[in-house]
Amino acid sequence: LDLRITTNMTSVIPSTLYGYMWEDINHSGDGGLYAELLQNRAFQGVLPGTQNALNAWQPYNGARLSVTDKTSGVTSALPNSLQVQFPKTVFGPIGFENTGYWGIKVQAGWTYNGSFYAKSDTLTGCITASLRSTTGTTFATATIKGISSEWQKFTFQFEPKTSAPDTNNVFHVEVNGPEAAGQTIYFGMFSLCPPTYLGRENGMRIDLAEALASTRPSVWRFPGGNNLEGESWAERWKWNETIGPIENRPGRVGDWGYPNTDGLGLLEYLNWAEDIGAEPILGIWSGTSIGNYSDLPTWPIVPEADLQPYIDDAINEIEFITADANSSEWGALRAKYGRVQPYQLRYIEVGNEDQFQPESYAGYRWKAFTSAIGERFPDLQFIATTYPSTALDPPYMKIDYHQYADLTWFENAAFMFDNYPRNGTQYFVGEYAVTSTNASDYLGTLDTGRLAYPSLAGAAAEAAFMTGMERNSDVVFASAYAPSLQHIRSYSWTPDLITYDAGGIVRSTSYYVQQMFSVNRGTHVLVTTPPSTNDTAPLYWVASHNNETNLVFLKVANTGPDDLVAYLHFDFNVTSLFGTAVQISSPVLSPLTGQFNITNTLEEPENIIPASSSFSIPYPDRYNYTFPATSVTILAFEAA
Ligand code: AHR
Repeated sequence: LDLRITTNMTSVIPSTLYGYMWEDINHSGDGGLYAELLQNRAFQGVLPGTQNALNAWQPYNGARLSVTDKTSGVTSALPNSLQVQFPKTVFGPIGFENTGYWGIKVQAGWTYNGSFYAKSDTLTGCITASLRSTTGTTFATATIKGISSEWQKFTFQFEPKTSAPDTNNVFHVEVNGPEAAGQTIYFGMFSLCPPTYLGRENGMRIDLAEALASTRPSVWRFPGGNNLEGESWAERWKWNETIGPIENRPGRVGDWGYPNTDGLGLLEYLNWAEDIGAEPILGIWSGTSIGNYSDLPTWPIVPEADLQPYIDDAINEIEFITADANSSEWGALRAKYGRVQPYQLRYIEVGNEDQFQPESYAGYRWKAFTSAIGERFPDLQFIATTYPSTALDPPYMKIDYHQYADLTWFENAAFMFDNYPRNGTQYFVGEYAVTSTNASDYLGTLDTGRLAYPSLAGAAAEAAFMTGMERNSDVVFASAYAPSLQHIRSYSWTPDLITYDAGGIVRSTSYYVQQMFSVNRGTHVLVTTPPSTNDTAPLYWVASHNNETNLVFLKVANTGPDDLVAYLHFDFNVTSLFGTAVQISSPVLSPLTGQFNITNTLEEPENIIPASSSFSIPYPDRYNYTFPATSVTILAFEAA
């Protein structure tokens, strides 16, 4: 292939092109990015008196545990408490333990900030809290005194001197058994937090945060996804119940099979987006939920006449985020919760996947939300969440398009945006991933082709598609791989960008492709001859120029089973006779069956990782390069 990179610039590449979609799925928030170590810390979203309500808690030496709402809770938002009853006769210490999110990482040198609320009418002795292994090794201890009949918050710190060899550790609470015999203590709102990303209070788990941040995402779509919508209207994600002290957040029944603490709330998400330099794309609830309504003719949708309170709620949310702290009540509340300066907010997404309820969306919901919010906040841009449609009034200018599919779909779709009308409307590819090798069952099970982890071949297919997004970034203004995170011990969706357990993480092939595309950004698309088309498959490419760094990038996906050589010609002279390459390809040189399905796993996290290299360029205007079978490569050349 003779491939010429011209100096002809076409579109400006928007700064928002690469990023992530976020929702609490697969314990991506609670038990994932949120640094909190104790699971079910405040008994939110559970039914008192049930065994399920004690999830992650276990008795120690015969204490009787139950979750109750029969005593007043720590706050009105948290009516449930842990009731700990001690038998009449006790030998030795007695208490209970929290097993964390399937384990707890104990790291020497870290300071763990702990707290809980406790009260007892009769027991006044000490409480000992510790971090210990399931085999009884204690790593750190704190003594808590002063318990009384009123709720009090007790705080403590753990500073383990040695690291635990594994994550089979628990948060352990005990009292002196003979002293406590026959008595009862109530506990509420526990917390145990290790150091967080950038030291933010109530912040993010460092390894996951650093991994996401190091891809330099530039958009952060939140809070869902299905998890915005709720199992019912009442269970939707309610922004005003996710702000302020964690004791004021009731939590909710999430859409992905576990209660959400909402410890990661609106302000935490906005701070996080700012910390990583990503632009927030805020999803607002649009009047429909996603529960199991299989016995109903259609999903219940808020009738037009009843929509106003939800529109008002969205307006209040936006005011809370953007208003001046001195002149707005909502802005003042934000300041009270620690953030005086308004946040930058440009994009509002109205709903999630409303193509499933198109009549009411086009009929009144889209119009009602966009016109009322637009009147109040005229600078905001709205993103519609339905299939491209001429039925929306007012017409959408931006639309969120989702695609999960097999590899071949993504390769074929590398050119889908080339013919998109240039009429001012733009795409946000708000969720996408290769999910399967099976075109007819791309959301099926592992035994029918669903991927457990992203594969090399899948990531190469995504890269082929991404060359098309970037080449057409005049009409694709943003994109978001989804889902981002997966706790290997409890999940409902594969594959995911990063997988982890209580101790470690693994970056997937798709993660590396996202990172390669995002970190190596041009400011303008460059025309190539020939252009990348169906005829040039299985080699897919896009060229760009960064006019700040004077680098020319050539991003290439080879989705085929053979190495392919390209004779590169430049319509410019490189100013350095060194180029650089970053490449992800199979570490196995001779083709072996299945080698392109290779994945990184928690057990083998570095099966396949990108390699960087530099090379000298013999002539300033040409270079030959071999793109290995099933690979993604980004070449960079310096050119004025
Ligand atoms: O990303 C997982 C789910 O897929 C999202 O919650 C939903 O928007 C989509 O259907």
